[in-house]
Amino acid sequence: MKDFDYLAEKAIYLDAACQSLRPKPVVEALKRYYYEHNSCGERAKYPWGEKTDELVAETRKKVLKLLKLKSKDYFVSFTLNTTYGINLLLNEIKPELIKKVVTSEIEHNSPFLATMALSENLGVPRVVLEREADGSLKTEGEDFAGAVVVVNVAANFDGRRMQNAREVVKKVHRDGGIIILDAAQAMAHTGEMIEKTEADAVCFSAHKMYGPSLGMIVARRDLVPKLQLRFLGGGMVDDVFQDRYELSAMSNREHVHTIFEPGLQAWGEICALGVAVDWLEGRSRTEKKLLADCARELDEFLRGSAKAKMVGQEVNSTMSFYIEGVDSHLVGAALGKAGIMARTGYFCVHYYLDKIMKYPPLIRFSLSYATRESDIVRVKAELKKILY
Ligand SMILES: Cc1ncc(COP(=O)(O)O)c(C=O)c1O
Repeated sequence: MKDFDYLAEKAIYLDAACQSLRPKPVVEALKRYYYEHNSCGERAKYPWGEKTDELVAETRKKVLKLLKLKSKDYFVSFTLNTTYGINLLLNEIKPELIKKVVTSEIEHNSPFLATMALSENLGVPRVVLEREADGSLKTEGEDFAGAVVVVNVAANFDGRRMQNAREVVKKVHRDGGIIILDAAQAMAHTGEMIEKTEADAVCFSAHKMYGPSLGMIVARRDLVPKLQLRFLGGGMVDDVFQDRYELSAMSNREHVHTIFEPGLQAWGEICALGVAVDWLEGRSRTEKKLLADCARELDEFLRGSAKAKMVGQEVNSTMSFYIEGVDSHLVGAALGKAGIMARTGYFCVHYYLDKIMKYPPLIRFSLSYATRESDIVRVKAELKKILY
């Protein structure tokens, strides 16, 4: 694809689940910010600042539109990444509202460890729910009253999705709990599965959806009264006295996002994210089909070998496997020498992949719109040397 034509023929990038390659228009948007309107957003009244403000406001709107959510109910705050967003939320929900913390067995360490810390800090129980093989969350018999639930919408090792996301959100709310969705792996290729989902907050990373390095919290406006802010700084207040301050978020609905944005933000990245969202929404049927076809071909090839053991049950653009009797890290190094960039290990999902499933370290291929048919031919040829 022309937007990735900077990629050398011999460079095969299969690590999009960590961070996507950035399409040229996104890099151009970053350059425009640094070369043409480098300025602090939402503060500077000179023309460069006004340009930044305009683009930042557009990005907030585009992110909400991507999730088909309305600004009367939701707002978008920018953070460092998904991990930061989840930790910030868990640390700022009023402790008296939290009777237990709930997560699931297939989580990335990002929510998995953050929920452990919350449980330890507040002295409340932590529940680790199981997931069905298809990714659905098992909620039978669980009462979510006073619970803060943090679960992923799609897993980072095989893309399995929380098929019952909408029902889970409804149940948690019916019981009187708070639910935060980790959509880090959902937004690039399957964002539609959580459109209009009424979670209290959704956290994700722009760098996993063809955008710059940046995170987001999309939060419900009615979550704000349930927060006790612990992380404060510049850009958040209308006025300050010796021992008291007045938050802009409270005086102006348009400023509510500032509660999660203390200090100077990554304004250039925020501007470029707006371009990434447009770019993502502009992918054609042919481009989507090419990605699906590449994933299917690689999946079929791996399942066709008696030695390759796949983790997932379904075809997905993110797939993990191991080769019986062969150290995955050595496979990764051999692939690397051939220009194939794949990840090996447990991809920050130690608990599920190692402790529950007892897999050896794995190899992960995560494909993207930058994947070419010729890449798959080369990957298969390299793997054949090991598998046959
Ligand atoms: C499902 C999931 N959640 C959370 C994260 C953490 O994302 P970040 O490193 O951008 O904070 C990742 C990263 O791979 C992930 O795959």
